[in-house]
Amino acid sequence: MPDNAAMVARTQSVNAADRTAERVSELREQLRYHARRYYEDDAPEIPDAEYDKLFVELQALEAAHPELLTPDSPTQQVIGAVREGLASVAHAVPMLSIQTETDTSAGGALKFDAAVRNALKLAADAPPVRYAAELKFDGLAINLRYEYGLLQQAATRGDGETGEDVTHTVGTIASIPKRLAQASAPVLEVRGEVFMRRDDFEALNERQRAAGAKAFVNPRNAAAGIVRQLDASLARQRPLSFYAYGLGDVQGWPIPATHSGLLDTLQKLGLPVDDHRAVVEGGAALAAFHARIAAQRDALPFDIDGVVYKVDERALQQQLGFKTREPRWAVAHKYPAQEQQTRLNDIEIQVGRTGKLTPVAKLEPVFVGGTTVSNATLHNLFELRRKGVRIGDTVIVRRAGDVIPEVVGRVRPDDDGHGPRARAVYVPNFRMPRQCPVCGSAVVREKGGNDHRCSGGLFCAAQRKQAILHFAGRRAMDIEGLGDKLVDQLVDGGVVRTLPDLYKLGIASLAALERMADKSASNLVAALEASKRTTLARFLYSLGIRHVGESTAKDLAAHFGRLDPIIDAPVEALLEVPDVGPVVAQSIHTFFQQAHNREVVAQLRAAGVHWSEHDGAAADRAPRPLAGKTFVLTGTLPTWSRDEAKECIEAAGGKVSGSVSKKTDYVVAGDEAGSKLDKARELGVAVIDEAGLRMLLPP
Ligand code: IVH
Repeated sequence: MPDNAAMVARTQSVNAADRTAERVSELREQLRYHARRYYEDDAPEIPDAEYDKLFVELQALEAAHPELLTPDSPTQQVIGAVREGLASVAHAVPMLSIQTETDTSAGGALKFDAAVRNALKLAADAPPVRYAAELKFDGLAINLRYEYGLLQQAATRGDGETGEDVTHTVGTIASIPKRLAQASAPVLEVRGEVFMRRDDFEALNERQRAAGAKAFVNPRNAAAGIVRQLDASLARQRPLSFYAYGLGDVQGWPIPATHSGLLDTLQKLGLPVDDHRAVVEGGAALAAFHARIAAQRDALPFDIDGVVYKVDERALQQQLGFKTREPRWAVAHKYPAQEQQTRLNDIEIQVGRTGKLTPVAKLEPVFVGGTTVSNATLHNLFELRRKGVRIGDTVIVRRAGDVIPEVVGRVRPDDDGHGPRARAVYVPNFRMPRQCPVCGSAVVREKGGNDHRCSGGLFCAAQRKQAILHFAGRRAMDIEGLGDKLVDQLVDGGVVRTLPDLYKLGIASLAALERMADKSASNLVAALEASKRTTLARFLYSLGIRHVGESTAKDLAAHFGRLDPIIDAPVEALLEVPDVGPVVAQSIHTFFQQAHNREVVAQLRAAGVHWSEHDGAAADRAPRPLAGKTFVLTGTLPTWSRDEAKECIEAAGGKVSGSVSKKTDYVVAGDEAGSKLDKARELGVAVIDEAGLRMLLPP
């Protein structure tokens, strides 16, 4: 029956069309909801990659069913709105968005070049197109309006037509000039990205956690949250950075003929412009830029989510023009996301060197930030509660730079696009154990503290392992070849119980261990032997006394000169050491009061660990031109690592501190120097580069 068959077919296609229309409206609702969470509340609930997936799905459906396309679809609009309390700003020139290429392989670059050549109707043998290639900073777009060289207004992108006035917060960003070096044009609008460096972000969250406040999810959110705050006092304490990448409205100012020329000019005017930018020719060179930056991505001081290619010639840009939302002459070529969602299978407890119990998320393995992650930190019980995370939840995992992967929150399982129906009560399904999972000792929490600790001390195998690894560390006794696998074997096999046991290891006993070749056994024995000759400061640091980091160890060594007076020092005597306060003094005193710790020290010395006593006095014989001077290192120096620079400064009698204050004598700045450099400028502290530092050092 042909009629019947046709009818069935028609019904099926009607059903399919219904389902498609339903899905399209569902996607739109979800995208609108998540865009609100992202742009308006600065509190996204799903990773960007997940949002992109929904967006691409909607785009695909609309492309296949043009009849479903509506002008109010999220694919047709630049989303964003004005926060209540912030004044709105009509952009003189709309702030557009940019096409994104999510194919993270070289193909993405080649495709863009091909599209540009095609649109310019270039013959196959025509010379390559020149591009300006730069980083895609992960922050928020800001328009800076300069009138006659003076900063008059800063605004967010908003919906592209209307943004928010954020002059009060952006005005606190030290690296943004209030007055341009030369330009006195009636109007010069500079566009760029406000972002937060990773170290500034970690430090901010550290402070938030210490204060019992909610940690920010990622640097982008922290930056957006702070910029869009009504009260500028918070912005002042919180380190934001800025890079310029384009223009808005311009009146009476000659615009350079190329984008690269523009960036150079903006830099000359005193605006921060990133130095990773390059001018390249052709698609293959774009792909090479993408690959080169990918290799540096983890080491960058800030998050990027891709690179941006722009046709360099302004004349060609004008020829290429715009599609609805975006220019044809630019594309963002993405990298694998640094945030992904996955299932939280379990929570395990890890015991650290000082006995701190850290809840570690056991995850369904997920590819994030370029590697597969199956463990991520949850910091402590209180963080875990604040995030409302439960075993079995879908969570967002972040891995950026060399920072350990972290669970930043959960994806609302009951999210249906209408917003979260928050659980009425958060009932955690994980508890901190009362006994150490490794040694069974009681778990304690200091009054008011966030951390749970195992009270077992070196009785606890986990703490022993960590103590040995710390002792062997590069900046401690520097025992090369003593890594965590080997320490596991040594401790679990009962071969090493205490630090001095290390020096009893012989080639035979080591070679007997699984996976240990004769060669590596003899190398390790040689490394142990070599480590015996050390300095008092390194030795003190290697003992792993709580609150005694490298710099305190150095201060102690310099002040006392010998170990014995430190071992016997009463708290008052310790308090005389510069930078040692009551907590640290008490911790040192308590450590050496314990008979077993004294015993460990005695045995290490008996095993042959030595240093020239009067370390401090010995150092006095060397020229100490930097005595009394405090340095702060920031950014990447051209030839020295930070450690090397630090060693040189200290060898010459100087001190290296982590933060800039009025007491800082010099800031040594390299590439990518960030907020510390800004701070130095603000406080009028001398800023030098590596060459300047070399001049201060004795020959
Ligand atoms: S150019 C018309 N360059 O990425 C082109 N954008 O949609 C305007 N972004 O919201 C953008 N780094 O906030 C450009 N080097 C860069 C960028 C960049 C980050 C952001 C910008 C914009 C989004 C692209």
